[in-house]
Amino acid sequence: MPVLTIMPSGKTIDAAEGISILQAILSSGETSLLHKCGGKAECGSCHIFVPEGRKSLSKIQRLENEKLDTLVGIGSKSRLACQAILGSENVTVEILSFN
Ligand code: FES
Repeated sequence: MPVLTIMPSGKTIDAAEGISILQAILSSGETSLLHKCGGKAECGSCHIFVPEGRKSLSKIQRLENEKLDTLVGIGSKSRLACQAILGSENVTVEILSFN
């Protein structure tokens, strides 16, 4: 069971393998992550950085890649929380303030 650490709050969640980072964050009661399209890779509002544990996440698929390309401020650690599926390893995510 991966532990998800949410920055900048430092909150940790015992998350389930196989669910999206967005699902894990929302089920923890954390409300600061926007998700305007409801998790369809259409809005980009769930853009996060993943400083640790990126390799255990699902690979970036075409829809996510195309949406990331349209966003301001993306970097090599960028993911859409609704599209990144947790694997077995611990992950740290950073919720961005410019969303
Ligand atoms: S919730 Fe809209 S892209 Fe993730």
